[in-house]
Amino acid sequence: MRLILLGPPGAGKGTQSKVLSEKFHIPHISTGDMLREAIKGNSPVGLAAQEYMNRGELVPDDVVIELIRDRLSKKNSEDGFILDGFPRTKKQAEMLDSVLHTMKRGIDMVVYFNTSTDVIIRRLSGRRICRSCGTNYHVKNIPPKVQGICDACSGTLYQREDDKEGTIKNRLEVYERQTSPLIDYYEEKGKLRTISGDLELEEAYKSFLKLFTEENLL
Ligand code: AP5
Repeated sequence: MRLILLGPPGAGKGTQSKVLSEKFHIPHISTGDMLREAIKGNSPVGLAAQEYMNRGELVPDDVVIELIRDRLSKKNSEDGFILDGFPRTKKQAEMLDSVLHTMKRGIDMVVYFNTSTDVIIRRLSGRRICRSCGTNYHVKNIPPKVQGICDACSGTLYQREDDKEGTIKNRLEVYERQTSPLIDYYEEKGKLRTISGDLELEEAYKSFLKLFTEENLL
């Protein structure tokens, strides 16, 4: 199964990707996670990306495209993958088409999370992440058992720099301007399916299963 999850920041793309990846044994490929890893490792890509990410701007296409080209050539993405947060511009989408064409592969479905702004803001401002293992929490919706401590590894939870109020607003504007045109791009290709991003976790997961059944992907 080859999927793209498309939607605004905070729509729940990363959360659902993780569940789907475990359930269907396909890799979850998140350009946001890859870039954060690069920053942690002080690599040249990380150094190039950090300022853009802190401001809530998109990292230049060329940087992200190289990361994805390299990742899709790895053996464990041969049988399927979930792309989360990529593509995010028309140029990235066209490049993805071309890379997959060369590999004689195609996208099965692009799932768009149609999400209301107040839900996005509540989710992003309440998100907390484990500094050690990256597990994702929400102070109200998905709280850890002990405040500030990861259930999985006892690591410390932190708030992403770009989840602070001023940056959230910029990320939403950037999404509207640069990424939302991809809704039409994939609609025209007949690949787009829509779920509500406002649903509770379990309901959102059931929406995926329904889509997979309708499209004979199970
Ligand atoms: P990235 O990390 O991709 O961030 P994003 O797209 O802004 O998405 P988020 O991670 O904020 O949201 P999400 O939809 O995954 O929500 P989540 O599941 O975590 O990108 C960060 C930056 O990297 C970008 O701004 C850019 O600078 C750069 N970048 C990345 N990719 C790029 C690209 N392709 N090109 C250029 N630049 C790129 O959920 C959010 C919160 O809500 C969590 O706390 C979660 O626990 C909670 N939650 C989730 N689902 C539910 C639910 N159903 N009910 C209740 N709570 C929920």
